Amino acid sequence: MANQAHGNGSEQDRARETAVEAALGKLDLDTKARLLGGQDMWSLPEIPEIGLKSLVMSDGPIGVRGVRWTADDPSIALPSPTALAATWDPALARRAGALLAQEARRKGVHVLLAPTVNLHRSPLGGRHFEAYSEDPYLTGAIGTGYVQGVQSGGVGTTVKHFVANDAETDRFTVNNIVSARALRELYLAPFEAIVENAHPWGIMTAYNQVNGVTMTEHRYLVNEVLRGEWGFDGFNVSDWMAARSTVGDIKGGLDVAMPGPQTVYGPALAAAVRAGEVEESEVDDAVRNVLRLAARVGILEGAEPVVTEVPGEIDGESLAREIARRAFVLVRNSGVLPLRPDAKVALIGAAARDARVLGGGSATVFPSRIVSPLDGLSAAFSSLTYAVGADPSDELLPADKGFELRAVCRDADGTILGEGSLPNGQVQWLGDDLPAGVTHEALHSIEVTGTFTPRESGDHAFGTRGLGAFTLTVDGTVLYDGVQPMGDEADPFEAFFGAPLERGRVTLTEGQPIEVSLRHVLDTSLEMPLPAIMFTFTHLGPRRAEDELIAEAVEAARDAEVAVVVVATTERVESEGFDRTDLQLPGRQDDLVRAVAAANPNTVVVVNSGSPVELPWRDDVAAVLLSWFPGQEGGDALADVLTGAEEPGGRLPTTWGSFAAAPVTGVTPDDGQLAYAEGVFIGYRAWDRSGSTPSYPFGHGLGYTDWAYESLDVTGTTATVRVRNTGARPGRETVQLYLSPSESDAARPARWLAGFASVEAAPGELVEVSVELPRRAFEIWDETTNSWSHQPGSYELTAGRSLADARVSETLVA
Ligand code: BGC
Repeated sequence: MANQAHGNGSEQDRARETAVEAALGKLDLDTKARLLGGQDMWSLPEIPEIGLKSLVMSDGPIGVRGVRWTADDPSIALPSPTALAATWDPALARRAGALLAQEARRKGVHVLLAPTVNLHRSPLGGRHFEAYSEDPYLTGAIGTGYVQGVQSGGVGTTVKHFVANDAETDRFTVNNIVSARALRELYLAPFEAIVENAHPWGIMTAYNQVNGVTMTEHRYLVNEVLRGEWGFDGFNVSDWMAARSTVGDIKGGLDVAMPGPQTVYGPALAAAVRAGEVEESEVDDAVRNVLRLAARVGILEGAEPVVTEVPGEIDGESLAREIARRAFVLVRNSGVLPLRPDAKVALIGAAARDARVLGGGSATVFPSRIVSPLDGLSAAFSSLTYAVGADPSDELLPADKGFELRAVCRDADGTILGEGSLPNGQVQWLGDDLPAGVTHEALHSIEVTGTFTPRESGDHAFGTRGLGAFTLTVDGTVLYDGVQPMGDEADPFEAFFGAPLERGRVTLTEGQPIEVSLRHVLDTSLEMPLPAIMFTFTHLGPRRAEDELIAEAVEAARDAEVAVVVVATTERVESEGFDRTDLQLPGRQDDLVRAVAAANPNTVVVVNSGSPVELPWRDDVAAVLLSWFPGQEGGDALADVLTGAEEPGGRLPTTWGSFAAAPVTGVTPDDGQLAYAEGVFIGYRAWDRSGSTPSYPFGHGLGYTDWAYESLDVTGTTATVRVRNTGARPGRETVQLYLSPSESDAARPARWLAGFASVEAAPGELVEVSVELPRRAFEIWDETTNSWSHQPGSYELTAGRSLADARVSETLVA
């Protein structure tokens, strides 16, 4: 058990501070400066003289990848952060965090680079799936549970990305112009709540600027607000490659510049002190923060870690499944769900077979197994057929299903230096993450080689992604032998993550293995910020005519009692590094749903996306279930809720609506600036103001039983709600409380979430729950006095099933 997960000023804290000061006192300037810069992609240098081990960090947030980007070292993959927020359950987020601490310890990781608590300002945000909600209170509550959980296992967190990193376009440079009021009431609010309630040991400062100052150098927001006003005493690490100025960063409160070995700290920082540009005491402040973290996680000799006894073992697969089903949001149900296990089911959709379980970018982890909807439903239903229906991706993807690949590394003479196993066709070796026996100095070429056993007969396309010389050989035929030069992008990372190129097609037979090889000769002339080997062997299976696929699915649906269609976004739609351009489902998926629904009235659509997509056919189908990116156990969780073994427990953490009606969408800077001109009106606050009705409101989500709200009483700031399960089966309800000023004030949102709680009840049972309304619910940020201002007056408090489904209300005077 944790003996003390957080809290300041305890005897143990004081003992740790003493150890930190003693260690600091023994360090010379050069060593201190060196400690503040990464030694590689993920860690800080060890300093044996003071008994300090190397501090290791890793992404985050749905799993712990570890220091290697490979399936050799698998991780539990939990559902996407949007899914975790959809549970509206901080206690479950805490359990997720505790599991991740267990994963981190298993992998030798001391600090998890998570949670992401930026807000869903625009639905176009590319990392929307990786953040929790459009509401700061819900975000803060889920983030608090998560941080408490991770730290209860003795592992640190970095709450990120501080602050206003709400979109990806030009993320390294964009200057977000945000009013003080919107910053305080929206974007800073989750960070503040987490600092207050979970006492995080770390924070990550963002790439972007806020009001003209880049966040790694934002002295006011970091030193004055975060550390000064809120009392944050953790360490502040830059987002990867965000630190750009030695003097600006150290004075702006940045403790650690990542990654290394080339950073703006280290020798450059020591030199700045010697040149009189930086006080040594400023370096000491940063070192103190790093040593305090090291003490907390137990890698500073002589300091007792915060957690001395490792908590009991948690079953990751079962928790992943539980979170997934608790997160699924049933937004529509004509009564078709739940299904009988002996119902004749036609399962349709590319993502039903090749499930999209997680979002792309730094949040990627490699689970040891993935339960697809096809796997999960095949086990749960006695009669099931499968049809692809529509394949949303017509791009070549990293060679995966059917491929058995390894990477053979050779020197310039062709001598084998070593071999690495590969989870798929993607090679991504950063820093010293190389196969055993291989060094950057000796490495000349890498051959991705092995076999491919096609799942379908027909024309298979093969290709490459990346820069440099490639020789691609499939089944004895050289499909390509040439050099891919750097294009206009000028950024080698962009080139790696860019579009794959088709290099040729080969006609193959289902089930018959063939030999494949992609040889890549490194281009040493490319300037990279750190040693990096990144290229991909790509593949695309036979493409059948789209109309033919849809017709086949319609046929399957017609023959079945129920059609379950899984629609999805792709990695080219939702990932890190870019924003979306619209909210449509890619490919012919909308046509597919319409055709299937016309053929079978019992059509259930499962939406496998991390963030909102338009569902233009939503009123023409029998049920719509949002599954988010459901994590590695998603298919079994889907079977749980479709069969009714479990209720779908999620409520929307973000409004779902069409792009045309969405009130705040802009993510593209104008002349380098992105104005948050809507002020405090984002999400449902903006939908309320615009007067338009979204497809599904904030907080919406159905279960399998019914609820009556019998009363709401307010005493002081405590609201007590009584709800009765009026249905026929046990259930769980998320009681939501919204506050609105009785007299409308154009400067304030019409209403906002002021509290929530989950209750469970048996059929007929009445349960009572009390919710404490937070002080902040009655305050606004006053820009003239630069302080919080209590807003007295009369308020209407409503309790209900969603923002749009208020059941009981009460007037109160604040
Ligand atoms: C992301 C961070 C992540 C870091 C390390 C960055 O690109 O913005 O969220 O923690 O990379 O992978």
